[in-house]
Amino acid sequence: MGPMRFFLPMVFLGALCAQPPQEAPQPGRAAPEPKNLKILKPEEVMPAMRSYTAGLGVRCEFCHVQGDRASDANPHKVTAREMIAMTRQINTHFGEAKERVTCYTCHRGEQQPKARPDSPAPAGQ
Ligand code: HEC
Ligand code: HEC
Repeated sequence: MGPMRFFLPMVFLGALCAQPPQEAPQPGRAAPEPKNLKILKPEEVMPAMRSYTAGLGVRCEFCHVQGDRASDANPHKVTAREMIAMTRQINTHFGEAKERVTCYTCHRGEQQPKARPDSPAPAGQ
């Protein structure tokens, strides 16, 4: 039985103890309080943001200044706010408090929605 048999587990334990405190959000720890909401409620923010990135096929930084989500300096964020209001307005025409029209309804995963098909439909359709 050589000394290595004791030494290696000690190195491993030492490395474990030297781990820096975890940076990942802990369960139960609240996300930072939003500072600049004009339309959404705080609990609506993250589901809404995920639907915008998917609806337009973009990343967060398409609308947000890197590192400052509260900032309105990116004009796409200002446009997006008008679009949120417009989409809600459209949905009021459907009678129920149900979200029928979404960003994706028009945008289909693209920044600029198409106003007409790329090519005319084949004759007879
Ligand atoms: C299409 C544009 C758009 C995209 C893409 C987008 N956001 Fe937003 N985001 C907004 C708008 C508009 C607001 C403000 C909503 C309001 O005024 O109620 C906002 C607000 C926020 C806020 C609140 C900031 C504060 O302090 O007021 C956070 C956090 C946020 N977004 C995170 C994200 C994350 C994370 C992503 C990517 C997953 C993302 N956003 C993608 C448009 C966007
Ligand atoms: C009824 C159709 C419709 C819906 C619904 C809609 N949009 Fe739009 N959106 C448009 C049109 C059309 C344009 C292009 C406007 C232009 O060219 O001036 C546009 C443009 C934009 C732009 C600017 C893109 C660029 O390249 O500059 C953003 C950002 C945007 N929409 C976000 C949203 C978000 C976020 C939602 C959902 C909350 C949404 N839109 C829902 C029709 C729609």
